[in-house]
Amino acid sequence: MKTIPLSGSRLFLITCLLAFGVVMVLLPGPWQQPVHSRTDNLPVAQASPTPYPCQSVASCPNAPVTNITSPQVPCDVCIPSSFPSAANAIAFFDDYSWRSFIALVWPALQNQRGVPDTNQTVDGKGPRVFETYKGLWELFHFDGSAPSGWNDYDPPTMNACGATTAFGDLVLASFSKFSDLGQAGFGKLVGPLVAQNQTYVSYLTAYNQIEFDQITSNSWYLRAKLPSTITFNPQSVDIKSAWMDMTNAKNPERYYTRMAAVMDPVSGKCSPKLMGLVGLHIVQKTPTRPQWIWSTFEQVDNVPPAQSGAPGTFAFNDGTSTPMPPKNPYSVNPLPTPMPPPVNVTRTKPISTLVVQGLPSTVQTNANYQQALKKAGSVWQYYQLVMTQWPVPGNSPANPGTPGFSFPGTGATTSFANTTMETFDQSSIATGGCMSCHTVTKTGTDFLWSLADHAFPPKIPSLLMQDPAFRELKTLIEKSQPMEKPSAKPVSKQRPGRRR
Ligand code: HEC
Repeated sequence: MKTIPLSGSRLFLITCLLAFGVVMVLLPGPWQQPVHSRTDNLPVAQASPTPYPCQSVASCPNAPVTNITSPQVPCDVCIPSSFPSAANAIAFFDDYSWRSFIALVWPALQNQRGVPDTNQTVDGKGPRVFETYKGLWELFHFDGSAPSGWNDYDPPTMNACGATTAFGDLVLASFSKFSDLGQAGFGKLVGPLVAQNQTYVSYLTAYNQIEFDQITSNSWYLRAKLPSTITFNPQSVDIKSAWMDMTNAKNPERYYTRMAAVMDPVSGKCSPKLMGLVGLHIVQKTPTRPQWIWSTFEQVDNVPPAQSGAPGTFAFNDGTSTPMPPKNPYSVNPLPTPMPPPVNVTRTKPISTLVVQGLPSTVQTNANYQQALKKAGSVWQYYQLVMTQWPVPGNSPANPGTPGFSFPGTGATTSFANTTMETFDQSSIATGGCMSCHTVTKTGTDFLWSLADHAFPPKIPSLLMQDPAFRELKTLIEKSQPMEKPSAKPVSKQRPGRRR
């Protein structure tokens, strides 16, 4: 960690931020206006962790109701009791994912991390709720010191940019979806992603207050304090976001963009850059899903096929038929200099069109939400749900997250990966599915890889490889067999036939 000198551009950024802060303070506070009431009957979890636990499940509508006006992350998937228990509840899970997305991209209440500003719409102004979650670098300090309180920001020495941060600021200093793992013997397995505009994609992991509080109150950010097994509290939410440098990006108006302090991977220097959101993983532990619900979103122009009405240019594909290489040709350690050319990225499995009981497929749910967002004139109309993955059956905590115990299940033919994050892991759900990879660290850290990876002191590469979980992770990433075998024996006596 090093503090970088105050360059002119950083001074400019800080001045802008200060000016923005003053303006925000002078604006009328949201507490002076009536709070909108909710009109649907879905259970909600406060984006702030109170009250906790979440409200009891009210009766759920027979078909999901598209809703872009709720700023609250649903506390759980809402499946009506009338829905056949053997049927695949994909429509309800996808609706849950969209509602979570809407709530997390909702503008945050000024100076209240993780709390939505209910006086704004989803298309309002300012930092979004997920951007105010505690970032990875704020939770895991390089010196093992305790993170600052939920609503506070740590001193500049704690982030890789040496940047002074305040409410809503974003520091992006990771070029691999595995961040530091690139230095940990994973070599080319965790390479960077180069966008068509010849820039590296940046990533950031962040945690909601419930998860953060549990980690900090138990000092789990210290490796010595990690118990042999962890169970996170329901309503724990963590996210991973992927950002593209918007320099020379095509159709920037189709992206949610914002300024961030971004590290140049080669010089290690940071500068303020306009960044656009290209991917968002959302993971929540819910009362009925102890293996968490896994949702992943992308900007619609990432890769072909072009959506109707879209310009037909892509951020990660040049539009030619040049195939995607089977493995990432680049490594994060060392990062190639000068920056190598982009490679073509494709979505190797389509987003699901499965229709169950006449309810919307994932593609149709996307269209429903995009239409509502378009009507509202919102930039979020240019985002899509790629997949929701969930454990089946729902409520047996002992079950692993392997494909046999999750949707889309063994031999999935529909998408289970985010092209900006699991770019080269799309061949088999047994190796590239969210839950099959995260279940490797189920016992140790309740599916939360970053805790296993970043608890202080971080493991030096040779020690990391002595850890069976990380050896298995490496093997998983290395495997590229298209065919899979179920790897774990059923823990529950109940067969995982039910899809809800
Ligand atoms: C091949 C393994 C692998 C796959 C597949 C994978 N992940 Fe991860 N994921 C990881 C690792 C390893 C980390 C931690 C990286 C780090 O420490 O910087 C991580 C981190 C995360 C985080 C941050 C919180 C945490 O668990 O540390 C989220 C959220 C996440 N992944 C969601 C997803 C979703 C959603 C999918 C599927 C669409 C997915 N992951 C697929 C390996 C994987």
